[in-house]
Amino acid sequence: TVVELTDSDYALDGFPDYMRKEIAEQPEAVRRALLGRLDERFSTARLDGLRMDPHELRSVQRVKFLGCGSAFYAGQIGADLVEQLARIPADAESASEFRYRNPVVDGDTLYVAVSQSGETADTLAAVQELRRKGGRVIGVVNAVGSAIARECGSGVFLHAGPEVSVASTKAVTNMSTCFALLALLLGRVRDLSVADGRRIVAGLDALPDRIEEAIEAEDHIAEIARRFAGARSMFFVGRVRGWPVAREGAQKLKEISYVHAEAYQAGELKHGPIALIDAQMPSVVIVPDDELLAKNIGTIEQIKARGGPVIAVTNAMLPSGLADAEIRVPHVTEELDPILFGIPLQLLAYHLAVALGRDIDKPRNLAKSVTVE
Ligand code: AGP
Repeated sequence: TVVELTDSDYALDGFPDYMRKEIAEQPEAVRRALLGRLDERFSTARLDGLRMDPHELRSVQRVKFLGCGSAFYAGQIGADLVEQLARIPADAESASEFRYRNPVVDGDTLYVAVSQSGETADTLAAVQELRRKGGRVIGVVNAVGSAIARECGSGVFLHAGPEVSVASTKAVTNMSTCFALLALLLGRVRDLSVADGRRIVAGLDALPDRIEEAIEAEDHIAEIARRFAGARSMFFVGRVRGWPVAREGAQKLKEISYVHAEAYQAGELKHGPIALIDAQMPSVVIVPDDELLAKNIGTIEQIKARGGPVIAVTNAMLPSGLADAEIRVPHVTEELDPILFGIPLQLLAYHLAVALGRDIDKPRNLAKSVTVE
């Protein structure tokens, strides 16, 4: 599939900055990532760029995602999807750690190098180290012809289109979308049923429209952002599926607003961080409508009991008045929740940074692509 880019990919088209434009582009970007890759007949994914036949796909015993920053957090969403759909052990590690710790590289693992720019020095070094040791590594990369894409030789292109803003939005969303395709493919050559495959295919097919609906909540999210713009620090709290979402939400806020933000796993709060909760410490809590709903409601109650303001990001019906503010997320096939829940968090970070008068596209101390150590 050839994706044609036009001049308008680089024009602001009336948007105030590239980040806002790229947030708006996400339904289209995800459509491009899915183009020609959903196989409705066999309820699976088609990823020809992997260059792996079913026998090779079945030989994968473990999957490891490697990337930096947001690509690392997206990798964690990928690892969760692979474990759920394919029942293969999977994890994510920051490429910047991996490259320096003399990693054990084994031939049964599929290593996935994740990068928007394809030029991140640490991720490239991790790929080179893997190849030197004979590891099987594929790239999930946006920039065609980039160093990481070339070094890997096979993989999945994100087709997000050029991303200009330092804070990654559409590339990150496309990363998780491509991981869902990979997990679906690995699952369907194993024991993922036709019915479950069909559910995931339908969910992916609907994803662009759901993202569009999520963006429609922008005015409400902007209002919440203005309300909490005075906070010096914020918690992002998630559990299991919600945990990488919380990490990426905190990352986005830090990058462009310079407000200190930390992500915590909901169950870890009581092991230390809850000591920091008071009226000045708002918590953004990720609450998907899944089997952990009651647990997550319990987390909100614990925070409220210590006087902490709560912004719930949810597609569930929460008891009224439980949270101080609620951001509604549309429903999608529940395994895909982490992709969709990222959207309102981008908008929250964006509008908080706007309220503080920050330079959205060029945050201080950051570069779009980190090509040095
Ligand atoms: C994302 O908002 C950040 N600017 C940053 O963490 C980024 O994801 C990271 O530097 C990796 O970049 P890459 O995807 O181009 O490799």
